[in-house]
Formats: sequence, C-alpha cells, structure tokens
Amino acid sequence: MFDLDQFIADCRGAIAADKSHRSVREIVARAVSDPAAVLKGLGEPKRSEIQRLYNSDGLTMLNVIWAPRMTIMPHNHQMWAVIGIYTGREDNIFWRRVPGDHRGKLEAVGARALCAKDADPLGDNIIHSVTNPISRLTGAIHVYGGDFFGVERSEWDPETLQEGRYDAAKTMRLFEEANALNRTG
Ligand SMILES: [Fe+2]
Repeated sequence: MFDLDQFIADCRGAIAADKSHRSVREIVARAVSDPAAVLKGLGEPKRSEIQRLYNSDGLTMLNVIWAPRMTIMPHNHQMWAVIGIYTGREDNIFWRRVPGDHRGKLEAVGARALCAKDADPLGDNIIHSVTNPISRLTGAIHVYGGDFFGVERSEWDPETLQEGRYDAAKTMRLFEEANALNRTG
C-alpha cells in the first residue's frame, strides 16, 4: 500500500532530522520497491506531465511522467534530488562545465540507467539530461531538497550545449509537445 500523505509526512520527518538526502533515499527506495502499490496510489500514468505532490521551501516532491522516447535538455537543480522509478525507464546522462570555458559549455562525464525499483540520489551540483528510452510512459517520483520552483537554475541548449537560464515554462511546453506527438494529451 502506497499512501501519498504518509509518504509526504515520512519525507518531511526525514529532512527535519537530517537535511541530506540519505533518509529520503531510503523512503523513496521503500516506496518504489513495490511499483504496483505506487501505481495504485498515484494512478496509472496517462499523459506526460509534472505533477506537484508537495512543495515547500525545504522540500519538493514531483510525480514526473515522461513521454515515450522523450528527452529533456541538460539542466541543474542547485539542490540534491532522489529519483525513484515505479514504471518504465530513465537514462540519465551526467555533464560538467568544460573547465576554463567561460560560456559554460558542457561535456558528458557519465551515465546511469534507471529501472523500476531503482532509487538514486543526485548531488547538489549535478547537471543531467534525462531520456525515456522506451515506447511507453515512464513514471518516477522525484524528491528535491529545496524549493524546486523557487531557485535560479541553468539549462543547456541541447544543440550547442551552451548555458542559459532555466525556463520552467519551456519545460512544461516540452511535456505538452510530447503529449501532442504521442496523442496522450
Ligand atoms: Fe532534473
């Protein structure tokens, strides 16, 4: 049984005791260890979207539904995150600013394939891009150690890999365009 209110209370309690992602990761791992329960609790994914489950100064929880084969450009968060997959897949590419490049150009430094039941932490300074590599919707619980919508962040142009200001509206548009493409809107 996945109870959203209990999950939120557990994560709030965890960061009240420890500001790091350690105990939140354990809570997310426990939740996604039973994907069927999360699907029942949050509902079967129907369209690509970012659902706000909880948002405060110190904590944000999102239900992120990735469209089939959707990719989001490199971006940072400026706070730690924990990603727990409950259906489908996420491929994460990790990036860093090219040392000495004053325009903030990126280079890839690693990758991680996430499957259902995986719950992975991302550090405060991580820059990543995300792809759903499969032909159906992917569902993931994302928990962030801060106000995800309230901080100044960066995104990188997917073609030039040059740094720019994060544009939340553009991200929302990408999810809607993906719905239009997949007729899931
Ligand atoms: Fe992200």
